[in-house]
Amino acid sequence: MDVKERIAAELIAARDRSLGLTVETLEDSELTSQISPLMSPLVWDLAHIGNYEEQWLLRAAAGAQAMRPEIDGIYDAFEHPRAERPSLPLLTPAESRAYITAVRDKVLDSLEKAPLTGPLTDGGFVYNMVIQHEHQHDETMLATHQLRTGGPALLDPPPVGTSGSGTAGGARTETEVLVEAGPFVMGTSDDPWAYDNERPGHTVDVPAFYIDTTPVSNAAYVAFMETGGYRDPRWWHPDGWEWRSASGKEAPGFWSREGGQWMRRRLGRAEPVPMDEPVQHVCWYEADAYARWAGRRLPTEAEWEKAASWDPVAGRKRRLPWGDSGEHANLGQRMLRPAPVGSYPEGASAYGVRQLLGDVWEWTATGFDGYPGFRSYPYKEYSEVFFGGDYKVLKGGSWATHPLSGRPTFRNWDFPIRRQIFAGFRCARAA
Ligand code: AVJ
Ligand code: FE
Repeated sequence: MDVKERIAAELIAARDRSLGLTVETLEDSELTSQISPLMSPLVWDLAHIGNYEEQWLLRAAAGAQAMRPEIDGIYDAFEHPRAERPSLPLLTPAESRAYITAVRDKVLDSLEKAPLTGPLTDGGFVYNMVIQHEHQHDETMLATHQLRTGGPALLDPPPVGTSGSGTAGGARTETEVLVEAGPFVMGTSDDPWAYDNERPGHTVDVPAFYIDTTPVSNAAYVAFMETGGYRDPRWWHPDGWEWRSASGKEAPGFWSREGGQWMRRRLGRAEPVPMDEPVQHVCWYEADAYARWAGRRLPTEAEWEKAASWDPVAGRKRRLPWGDSGEHANLGQRMLRPAPVGSYPEGASAYGVRQLLGDVWEWTATGFDGYPGFRSYPYKEYSEVFFGGDYKVLKGGSWATHPLSGRPTFRNWDFPIRRQIFAGFRCARAA
């Protein structure tokens, strides 16, 4: 497949996914209402995906005129915070679908003639950006689905093997590994899929540390809860203790205690909490408190990325081996849940660390900032406006993250109180 065929196929696949999460699955009333003040109405995400595509692939890359200049403001994420979006004169679900389809038809036409040279389109850069943007909103839409109170709208796929080979859970011999001191290359300067915040690649010298080979499980997290973890300020960051006290939270998001058993609500289903899955829907403060209780700490972003991507024998960076058809990682919404802790032994990093990509986003100790030599490109509202450390970096990707964004250099970020994202964590300690 040549580059243009590949781009067209990825655009089409992303659209199938977006429609499956919106107009093909939910009634108009659910698409237009605001399921949570934390989220946009789903119909906003849908038209925003098309508006972003129009701005970058038709206007910026192909020099086209705006198709509907009057709606640009409505779908500009910076003009209107999420809580305001339901009161905007949004396109209806049918209008949104027609608009994004009209944009897409023009994009596929112009792609045939596009030269794919020059900084914006070199290596397909701006197309890759738009494809990833659509998939990122699809993950956001899944978080909105998770916040719905109605019954299941999305079907669980039939069970698949979750370990690549052998049984789920695999044979895990070590629970933590040593990453010896030394430099590695953080970020990238040459990946045509990388966002500005992943650039430039730069050398970071990391002191020796130990890191868990798997994310923290629900069983381990329950031990923290049952030994009074939520009631003991010793484990909590001062801001975390304030959040804990004000919110009254004593369990991960979507959990409830019923008849002596921990239950959870997952995309409209009530089910017992599977103790062998990685914990998810915990905020940074909860992850930080658990780690302190366990006598450990969260890994820094550099530690996480080194453990994930550095090959100490070859002395270079590599992609995680998640398999030709993604069979060694739980990415891309194949399952609507994380896989059991210890799954995918064949997707392990060179250091033997598992489940770095997929399952759950992993909170790190690091605040979101630009790397040395950072240059905003192609627009400062993707990353730069969020710099300054108020947001914490998450690494890896969840079961809802598309494989096209599944790379060790990818950087996600959110406020330390956020729990609606598909986030968990693993622990580290100094060597
Ligand atoms: C990278 C997930 C934090 O959703 O706010 C979507 C991605 N940027 N549209 C977000 C994004 C612009 C972003 N995150
Ligand atoms: Fe967006």
